[in-house]
Amino acid sequence: MYIIIFQYNFQIFIMIILAVLLLAVCVYWMRWSARAQRMDRMTSKLPVPPTLPLIGNATIFMGDTQQILKNLWSVAHLAFKHKNSAKIWLGPKLYVAIADPADAQVVLENCLDKDSVYRFLRPWLGHGLFVAPVDLWKSHRKVLLPIFHNKVVEEYLDVIAEQGNVLVGRLQEQLNKENFDVLKYITACTLDIVFETAMGERMDVQRNPDTPYLRARHTVMEILNMRFFKVWLQPDLLFNLTHYAKQQIENILITHKFTDKVVQKKRLEYERNKDENASQKPPEGKPRAVLDLLFGREIDFTNEQLREHIDSITIAGNDTTALVIAYTLVLLGMHQDAQEKVFLEQQSIFGNTSKSPTKEDLQKMFYLERVIKESMRLYTVVPIIARNIDKDIYLPTSDVTVPAGAGAVIGAFAVHRSAVWGPDPDVFDPDRFLPDRSAGRHPAAFIPFSYGSRNCIGRNFGMLIMKSLLSIIVRSYKIEADDIGALKVEVLLFPINGHQIKIRKRINLSKK
Ligand code: HEM
Repeated sequence: MYIIIFQYNFQIFIMIILAVLLLAVCVYWMRWSARAQRMDRMTSKLPVPPTLPLIGNATIFMGDTQQILKNLWSVAHLAFKHKNSAKIWLGPKLYVAIADPADAQVVLENCLDKDSVYRFLRPWLGHGLFVAPVDLWKSHRKVLLPIFHNKVVEEYLDVIAEQGNVLVGRLQEQLNKENFDVLKYITACTLDIVFETAMGERMDVQRNPDTPYLRARHTVMEILNMRFFKVWLQPDLLFNLTHYAKQQIENILITHKFTDKVVQKKRLEYERNKDENASQKPPEGKPRAVLDLLFGREIDFTNEQLREHIDSITIAGNDTTALVIAYTLVLLGMHQDAQEKVFLEQQSIFGNTSKSPTKEDLQKMFYLERVIKESMRLYTVVPIIARNIDKDIYLPTSDVTVPAGAGAVIGAFAVHRSAVWGPDPDVFDPDRFLPDRSAGRHPAAFIPFSYGSRNCIGRNFGMLIMKSLLSIIVRSYKIEADDIGALKVEVLLFPINGHQIKIRKRINLSKK
């Protein structure tokens, strides 16, 4: 008897729970649906690719990374046909896809909060500049900005030159051979430069590329990359059920321990030499690394904050710079006339010597600078920048007010091919960046380093590295290349078959 009553009550209890759950889902659904409809109405002028119930346009991010790039291109083409913008629904979230300079400018100047997708980087980079919430970012960026001033980063030219010479020596093993992927050589070199200048520690990746730290870093990047593009791995609940979650925690720990050790060592040095730190250079004349310069500032950073900033800088600064150099080398190999001009410019500055560039030499590399810019326009290594729209915002070209709560996806790769670049945006033409041809061009038409106050803090440093390394490579070797081929997006933009080039000897360079 009691058992029957208990069973009966238990069934009622379960039914009540189910009814409450159903009601909660319905209320959530109605509220979400009303909000989504309002957002849809406000942006009704924007074209949208065919959507599916519940998932919207999430199929854009399905398939391999080559397919995803193709899908993104089709959104860009849809945008090109309609005042350079479109919209997509990723499940319940509305994103406005922007390929127009004026609209990109408005978003990048006014919406400084990164899109929620960047949250995957938080366990690794914490509140480092790259992912910091806006309030914290504002105060920290103010402190870091002077450290990336031209005058400071120019102090690193000797480090860049030294590693550049190691790079040229390593490339010798490919001399007169068939095609090879140049990116791995460049990446090892930029890692050495960025580590030494950011942390003050010599890593010697070029001679010693396989360390537990580098392996861990690589694994974390692979997992993050997968998470960015595999929508089903995005909810924490699902991700935490996979073995990737454990792998990520273990490898992040290895990278954190590595940077923590350097930070602790530098903290001790700083405490010991407080007085000497008042001067700009330590006694032996070596320039002070970014980390050294972060002590004794307006904000007294904790060791954890220092680690987050240094990790963010080394991660944001390395692959980006290496990729631009590698794309530029392939482009120079494909366009022998442009390579000849770069070479002649180098000869006019250095003669037939392997002298390391000074800051004055770098300022004379006008044509090389135009080539690098054209390379960044055509092969925008950070192809997408995503921001959170935290207040309703009016986009002038699209003539649409995007509601707060939506996201904005600035397709830098698409902005770089929009109508402002003329009828042949796919043609490699470095002279687009001649002063007279640039006059009157929209300031946000060229955004490889993003735009506005949350742009790339390391852009001047990046330019110094790119010019210096390309200078010594082009003086040392003649480059040949067929094509860049198909591309894929893995947060950054990569050619499917790598950056394939051949190198031939040019002339024997003298030291002086
Ligand atoms: C050619 C080389 C480079 C390119 C194309 C590049 C591109 C970018 C872009 C597009 C952003 C904004 C990303 C976003 O909002 O999603 C960014 C931010 C950033 N970059 Fe670079 N970058 C380069 C080199 C460097 C270097 C050399 C460093 C430092 C050593 C650096 C450090 C950073 C940092 C710390 C941020 C975050 C800035 C903030 O939010 O305040 N980058 N970079």
